[in-house]
Amino acid sequence: MRLRRVDPAPAGGQFFFEGRPVPFREGDSVASALMAAGIATFRATPVTGAARAPYCLMGVCYDCLVRIDGADNQRACMTPCGEGLRVERQAGVAGSPGSDERGAR
Ligand code: FES
Repeated sequence: MRLRRVDPAPAGGQFFFEGRPVPFREGDSVASALMAAGIATFRATPVTGAARAPYCLMGVCYDCLVRIDGADNQRACMTPCGEGLRVERQAGVAGSPGSDERGAR
């Protein structure tokens, strides 16, 4: 049996992760595009600062929280890519003890 090769989705554009351009394909979530670009650490925990990466990729674990266009606590796995989005790592959960209103510690 021969497996058919699946062509990748067409290029969708690019957004920016902490100023670095990141290409994406049509249908990508922010999380999938970041991981495809080799970026695995999306946030740090509020108490220990431990690095977190996407885990469930279906909106349940919240380990993929990032700031998108200035809005904190966005789940990267549930956010479709868009041309020119500005995505940043987040420290903790914005509004949680030990973080300022931006999520920074
Ligand atoms: S990876 Fe679990 S909510 Fe996004």
